[in-house]
Amino acid sequence: MMEAVGSAQTLTDVSIELPGRQSGKVREAWPLSGGRRLLVTTDRLSAFDRVLGAVTHKGQVLNQLSAWWFGETSDIVANHVLSVPDPMALIAVDAKPLPIEVIVRSRLTGSTSTALLPRYLNGERELYGHLLPDGLKPHGPLGTILITPTTKALKGGHDEPISSDEIVARGLVDEILWAKVQAVALALFERGARIAADAGFLLADTKYEFGLDAEGELMLIDELHTPDSSRFWLVETLQRRLDEGLTPEGFDKEPVRLAFSAAGYTGDGTPPTLDPGVWQETSDRYVRLYEALTGLHFSPASLPAIERLTTNLAPYLGGEPTATTAV
Ligand SMILES: Nc1ncnc2c1ncn2[C@@H]1O[C@H](COP(=O)(O)OP(=O)(O)OP(=O)(O)O)[C@@H](O)[C@H]1O
Ligand SMILES: [Mg+2]
Repeated sequence: MMEAVGSAQTLTDVSIELPGRQSGKVREAWPLSGGRRLLVTTDRLSAFDRVLGAVTHKGQVLNQLSAWWFGETSDIVANHVLSVPDPMALIAVDAKPLPIEVIVRSRLTGSTSTALLPRYLNGERELYGHLLPDGLKPHGPLGTILITPTTKALKGGHDEPISSDEIVARGLVDEILWAKVQAVALALFERGARIAADAGFLLADTKYEFGLDAEGELMLIDELHTPDSSRFWLVETLQRRLDEGLTPEGFDKEPVRLAFSAAGYTGDGTPPTLDPGVWQETSDRYVRLYEALTGLHFSPASLPAIERLTTNLAPYLGGEPTATTAV
């Protein structure tokens, strides 16, 4: 039996009668036979390392956009995709994740404590083992593409910055593999930035996760170049906004982060309630970004989500699941 929680428009939780469920902030995952993994991307939105709300169509955009990008980059590195049986679900290779998140940046930006801009404005110049020059402008070019890794925090924790030297010294990833991961990350970023530019967006930064398959081979896992894992800025308005001292127009979750920040929220305690318009705008922008990047039309998946998922996932679950809709 499958059960879902959410509103009429959003899916915020889904439970399936399979053992071993692992809940991330955005995804629900279950191990499947044959070294596979079922990943369902919900509509939950996380920021400040916690879930703060739900965005209509978000799970579908993330799942389908990632699948599209994995296809566009499979010549650079192997990835975990096996099949996409539902707009919100992925059958993936169950990999052993590397214990770091690989963040790649071309711009001095960000609003969270691990981001570059707040620390740079605070006077810090040595960040993640890189020495930044004086005189860089907020949201402006870094002049080079930087890899700024973080540790992958356990549930409830916060990801912490870590330098390349520490990654190797602490034995989190061995030196040869880390060199390969960095080369792959830069190649992915270059590909992503080029495709984004063709669609009228600047890829300011992004996060990659890697894992090892059963043979110990490197593969790209999780999500790829989505508006959750990346900052995408509208090129059309970028220069004018920066000249006017405004923040870039982001087609990603940064506007939600900024709205929470503007309401005085820093990640602790009860989050403030945001204007519903912020959530609707985020949904519209996720869909617009999907269409611009892929050149595909976004067709919203049929509702209720749980009935659709039950049908589409039946071949992977064994037996005959019955649908129930809970709200
Ligand atoms: N192929 C895979 N094999 C093993 N683990 C994977 C694979 N793909 C993704 N994962 C892991 O599954 C989880 C995905 O869940 P989710 O994105 O919700 O988690 P999160 O990272 O806690 O949240 P957020 O993305 O907001 O930081 C991550 O921990 C990710 O490392
Ligand atoms: Mg994640």
